[in-house]
Amino acid sequence: MASPTAPFRVALLGVGTVGRATADSLVRDAGRLAEAAGRPIELAVIAARTPARLQGLALPAGTQVLADPHAAVEVPGLDAVVELMGGDSPAGEIVEAALRAGRSVVTANKHLLAARGQALETTARQAGARLRFEAAVGGGTPVLRVCASDLAAVRIECVRGVINGTTNWILDAMERDHLGAGAALAAAQVAGYAETDPSFDVDGIDAADKLVILVRLAFGTWISPAAVARIAVDGPGAGRPGIRGVEATDVAAAEARGHRIRVIAEARRTAAGIVASVVPREIDPDDPLARAHGIGNVVVFEGEPAGTVMVAGPGAGGPATAAAVLADVAALARGEGSTWAGSAAAAVGLLATEAAR
Ligand code: HSE
Repeated sequence: MASPTAPFRVALLGVGTVGRATADSLVRDAGRLAEAAGRPIELAVIAARTPARLQGLALPAGTQVLADPHAAVEVPGLDAVVELMGGDSPAGEIVEAALRAGRSVVTANKHLLAARGQALETTARQAGARLRFEAAVGGGTPVLRVCASDLAAVRIECVRGVINGTTNWILDAMERDHLGAGAALAAAQVAGYAETDPSFDVDGIDAADKLVILVRLAFGTWISPAAVARIAVDGPGAGRPGIRGVEATDVAAAEARGHRIRVIAEARRTAAGIVASVVPREIDPDDPLARAHGIGNVVVFEGEPAGTVMVAGPGAGGPATAAAVLADVAALARGEGSTWAGSAAAAVGLLATEAAR
């Protein structure tokens, strides 16, 4: 077994916005990361489908660059796999196989976790593997650790948040700069905030996926992303998913009333089960969620005996999200467990809508 001061060797899969920023920080901030991890972090191998994405990175001489992520995870002597490819496949198969083999995995893949979280957790627990995913919710804001570890002794009743940076950026730009939704989305795409398929942002799919992950950590159950309501029955944009139906006139009318429109992700414990939704709402400026500006995220936990706990910070963007990825890598190098460490194995959650059937 490697000594605790031996380098912690990682395979980095994917060099999109977050992957490239992670590689960059691994090189630039190597000294600070080694201090945080208690040992050097070595970028042993990068899987890059488009090697041109690596241009300008001063990679260490020993870093292998491979096109095939399956081959990258087979490089001998790896301590962790960092999956930043996104999407369901091949990311899902690679993460599943790594966990089954008892290996440590860090991922920012919220869509994968929301779709297959229950199975991945079961696999990880059975194999004694560790799975960390702080960057999957809140970008560079440490939301999951706060929920899973720091609020471990709190019975959380409700979690509310602005957890999609792109739609918040769009609403902000519509309000502040009177930009049209299309122009604001184009700017968010150029800045690297939007999903590869931006309808995941616009239709509330990304926020619903993140809410599923928050629910797992706040309430101890995996719910289906399909059960998160994404179409409001009233208020701005009602009848269409996400911000698809929010018009400039809705934003102006809210502004005239001294209010703001925000996409609110909310999950609440009820007697019948968990009620979860991601819908646009007109909110009072005193609401803590009104403080989310641009790509900022804000998450509020309510429970006893803590009362209200709020976390805020950058919700998207390469460097900020890479910081969350690397915090997880450092935690693994220090010997810490999975993001859910300390909580009981999760079951599939009972939703209020299911209980009512
Ligand atoms: N598209 C996502 C967002 C990226 O805008 O929040 C961060 O998860």
